[in-house]
Amino acid sequence: MRMIDIIEKKKLGQTLSKAELDFFIEGYTAGTIPDYQAAALCMAIRLMGMDSRETADLTMAMAASGDQSDLRSIPGIKVDKHSTGGVGDKTTLVVGPMVASCGVPVAKMSGRGLGHTGGTLDKLESIPGFRINLPTEDFFHIVNTVGISLIGQTGNLAPADKKLYALRDVTATVDSIPLIASSIMSKKLASGADAIVLDVKCGSGAFMKTEEDAQALAEEMVAIGQHAGRNTIALITNMDRPLGRAIGNSLEVIEAIETLKQNGPTDFTELCVELAANMLLLAKKGYLEDCRAMAQQTLRDGSALRKFREMVSAQGGDPAVTEDYSIFPQASIITELPSPRSGFLSHMETQTCGLAAMVLGAGRATKEDSIDHAAGIVLSVKPGDRVEQGQTLATLYCNSPAAVPQAEQLLLGAFQITDRTADTQPLLYRRVEAK
Ligand code: URA
Repeated sequence: MRMIDIIEKKKLGQTLSKAELDFFIEGYTAGTIPDYQAAALCMAIRLMGMDSRETADLTMAMAASGDQSDLRSIPGIKVDKHSTGGVGDKTTLVVGPMVASCGVPVAKMSGRGLGHTGGTLDKLESIPGFRINLPTEDFFHIVNTVGISLIGQTGNLAPADKKLYALRDVTATVDSIPLIASSIMSKKLASGADAIVLDVKCGSGAFMKTEEDAQALAEEMVAIGQHAGRNTIALITNMDRPLGRAIGNSLEVIEAIETLKQNGPTDFTELCVELAANMLLLAKKGYLEDCRAMAQQTLRDGSALRKFREMVSAQGGDPAVTEDYSIFPQASIITELPSPRSGFLSHMETQTCGLAAMVLGAGRATKEDSIDHAAGIVLSVKPGDRVEQGQTLATLYCNSPAAVPQAEQLLLGAFQITDRTADTQPLLYRRVEAK
């Protein structure tokens, strides 16, 4: 088999066989296929597309390119959850304990990733003492005793994806639905869960800007899950506004704890219930309606909060953070941003809100950047709200005085205040199940 023939075939819009896709992924991972040929194939895929069978075969080959977690020593159906990423997305911190407190084991490995506000791991690391790097035996022990453990990805998970993603990033081939779907799902399959709930974000703060693109990505990923024998459901959810009110690591953990105490923002709470209910459904805990009620009950009876505290303690963190927020890293500068005019907040350019949080120190622009766990933004208003001139729109937290004017400028540009509001967007656009 020759790589040039595979590129030629895809260039002409033909369908690649499983053997050809395996040859490509094995050769590229081993270094026998050079970057320039891999880049040419990615561009051909970007332009000509791939059908669902090809996408699933590519995903399986990438998942098999490195270590694959074996979670079989954890009894029960293990359900993973993945978000395609958004601003203020701290759902794992609430959904994980909700599901675990219903008796479904949560053995979750997260990547760090670049982003406006760090990933789940950065959020967890804002809890003093919390360890995200645990030996595998400890990870399994905590899942089997506490019911939940959240750690950093271990081992050499889907190395083909790591290499290909870096290549796509510099060859204008990121925005291909089959390539995004296979990239995300290869890591999920290699992580070893039996079933997967996907939160596909859609809107100005998401990778997928339109509902059509989000739907296409969701359908592709659900089909891959089915092909791999892992029950998969996707929710397409609104990321045209930040989720909840807090953006930034310790601020988001505090908001997650408040949500576990039933004091969280409505949109965030609603999404957590929906995601947890779908995870419980895949764990065969009942019909969706029953699962929704079970998820809500874990907030009402405090069991999800207790589970969160147990997990924090088992992973070396200080469980007192749930009662005493002064234990979190503190910002030395706290400033309020006043509204320049009266009216209705009609739109929030969500990516720009994330960028403002990053400028304050909450996220990384490059892998080498360090994060200020105390930095971020708490929004006082959300789209649809009436605002008066001078009213606080948001509170900014940071430790670097020089960052404040730029972050304020970005936020003011992100908030659209008009005389009327037309905010009718739902939180949950659609639910995608296997056909
Ligand atoms: N996230 C991934 O993991 N891969 C992509 O291709 C895009 C987003």
